[in-house]
Amino acid sequence: VSLDAAKVINVTPRYAKLRAGANGSVKGQIIGWENIELIKEYPDRILIASIMEEYSKSGWEELIDRVEQTGIDAFEINFSCPHGMPERKMGAAVGQDCVLLEEPARVALRSGCEGIAAINTIMSVMGINLKTLRPEPCVEGYSTPGGYSSKAVHPIALGKVMNIAKMMKAEFNDDHYSLSGIGGVETGGDAAEFILLGASTVQVCTGVMMHGYPMVKRLCEELKEFMRTHDFSSIEDFRGASLEYFTSHTDLVRRQQEAIRQRKAVRKGLKSDKEWTGDGFVEETESMVSN
Ligand SMILES: Cc1cc2nc3c(=O)[nH]c(=O)nc-3n(C[C@H](O)[C@H](O)[C@H](O)COP(=O)(O)O)c2cc1C
Repeated sequence: VSLDAAKVINVTPRYAKLRAGANGSVKGQIIGWENIELIKEYPDRILIASIMEEYSKSGWEELIDRVEQTGIDAFEINFSCPHGMPERKMGAAVGQDCVLLEEPARVALRSGCEGIAAINTIMSVMGINLKTLRPEPCVEGYSTPGGYSSKAVHPIALGKVMNIAKMMKAEFNDDHYSLSGIGGVETGGDAAEFILLGASTVQVCTGVMMHGYPMVKRLCEELKEFMRTHDFSSIEDFRGASLEYFTSHTDLVRRQQEAIRQRKAVRKGLKSDKEWTGDGFVEETESMVSN
């Protein structure tokens, strides 16, 4: 939602798929999705108004006031939409401009937001039709860069969520704030990964557009199966559990050198017959057996 709805005019086609098959083969698995859509429909559970305005305090205040009066449950403030709106200094134009807004997640929490949802789509050019030389999605022969989503963005989203979760843990009391993981979620395993990196909820967009609502049921079953396997009885039992395994590259090198040193220290066999100790001959014999 933004103040001037008249400027939100959609075109068709507005989506383009990226397939994993050779040379974009139409038979390959869909791994990426680009959209240049400007409007959004809402599910009928809790209603979160996703709002976006130009870089104007009075504009934001008016928008928040008007949307609040509709009785919505929460706001999502969009500093991340990469397409359509940046032309009007909205969405990613604000979120990616470090002068306007230093690090968006940190600033949002410091300014009173109760949670972070990441990621939105990523600015992309989906591809060029090699017969017509026109870009996709093609509208009357022309296109515009769009927002990339689906499986292909999942690792990028995991990286962003991991960084935000670490920041929330280090600088905020993360029990009081929520983090929602979004990007390429199609399976219970994808959802579990976001939760293991600190997300308390997970959202799905393109997955449901491609596979329909039955996907959500399957995802929940797979997530429950993962939890049973590890004996987790709640999301909190494993939320953020993998964060501690991230470290610096320098530390990885140090750990590896230490592991190599320890492996070398566990001596395999005797270097020479002079090393037989007498009393320890059973272990010494065993250390030279190959099976
Ligand atoms: C067709 C389409 C429309 C979208 N509309 C919005 C929107 O209005 N506001 C918003 O914040 N994000 C919007 N998104 C971004 C999604 O909420 C989500 O952050 C992104 O697509 C990555 O998740 P996914 O891989 O599950 O699709 C849209 C995405 C798609 C594909």
